[in-house]
Amino acid sequence: MNDQVKFNVAIIGAGIGGSHLEGYCAWPKNYQVTMICDLDVERAKAIAKDLPNCIITSGIEQVLNNPDIDIVDICLPPHLHFPIMMKALDVGKHVVCEKPFVSSLAETDQIIAKAKSVGKRVFPIFQYRYGIGFQRYKLLQTKGLLGKAFTASLETHWDRRAAYYAIDWRGTWAGENGGTIVSHATHIHDLATQMLGTVKNVSAFLDVRVNPIETEDCAAISMQMASGALLTSSITLGNVGDMSRIRICFEHVTIESGLQPYTIGAGDWTFTARNETHQKAIDAELAILPKIEERFHGLMADIYGALTDAPQASPPNLADARHSMELITAIYHADRTGRRQSLPIESHHPLYNGWKP
Ligand SMILES: NC(=O)c1ccc[n+]([C@@H]2O[C@H](COP(=O)([O-])OP(=O)(O)OC[C@H]3O[C@@H](n4cnc5c(N)ncnc54)[C@H](O)[C@@H]3O)[C@@H](O)[C@H]2O)c1
Repeated sequence: MNDQVKFNVAIIGAGIGGSHLEGYCAWPKNYQVTMICDLDVERAKAIAKDLPNCIITSGIEQVLNNPDIDIVDICLPPHLHFPIMMKALDVGKHVVCEKPFVSSLAETDQIIAKAKSVGKRVFPIFQYRYGIGFQRYKLLQTKGLLGKAFTASLETHWDRRAAYYAIDWRGTWAGENGGTIVSHATHIHDLATQMLGTVKNVSAFLDVRVNPIETEDCAAISMQMASGALLTSSITLGNVGDMSRIRICFEHVTIESGLQPYTIGAGDWTFTARNETHQKAIDAELAILPKIEERFHGLMADIYGALTDAPQASPPNLADARHSMELITAIYHADRTGRRQSLPIESHHPLYNGWKP
């Protein structure tokens, strides 16, 4: 990587923010985390224990008013993503923001316009892309070894009960901005669109079947991709244990991911070719794939590349965030109307300003 520029980072929110911190700290020549902000100062101090010079604060304004901060990394509860992102852009910071990005397409479009007007970058978090399984897929796709995509099935089968929902913002429309399609399945849907392209049509059934919460915790979704590929996504928070899986049937190869719930892009993906000659070609390509950095290590390296104009860098961007928000809008609308919803979705759509009931 280019080591000439070093960015000062402030992380706001010390839950998953601890994993972001590890991602930045993996690249000490490129990043320095100089502030950690959380209302719970002890929580912030705990994740900063190896950073003696890091400023700990409970005040977001103190972060935003600090001229030395280049990047504000937002790991706050979902309902705070939009207002804090807007404020951070207004004071000229680059932004990294956790999922779910915001709570509507209208907010997404405001962020896109704001980032453009102030000339700053916004990186939504989709860290599952940084895994060896997904990178193997990308290599074979680039080499033209997969052929036409026929069908795909996705499973996000996790176990989330009372202890998980003890945190007040979870399971509420006001705090979480939605349920499992907004929170848990957003990663696998991002990976699927990375592999199969954008979504064209959506049908969906959503329900609250597992927990006494406001927002959906089970879903059965069908998608037709712009390429014509057909996809089903099954989601529940009532599984025994946690597992995720992706299966895609391409013309020449069937791909199956491992079952790791939080690192679905990593692990033991299998690539089964239709015949022996093709299998040999695939195995030969996969044998020379270089080591890759996984999860937040890989994501933070890619963000650095984008900020320093490295030609090969392609971290998740605002177009990805918009497509994710568009898909969520489509899923809620399809479920509530009982009708198929087509994408793209523009400003005249009844849920453009938000999907909260
Ligand atoms: N990418 C992933 O795999 C992943 C995993 C977990 C969570 N997340 C997302 O990250 C975000 C945070 O989730 P979490 O599990 O870390 O939540 P959390 O509730 O554990 O942590 C959020 C932290 O924000 C702090 N906070 C709340 N309001 C604040 C304010 N006004 N000022 C300063 N600090 C404030 C809280 O004190 C808390 O410590 C959510 O959007 C969630 O969906 C993403």
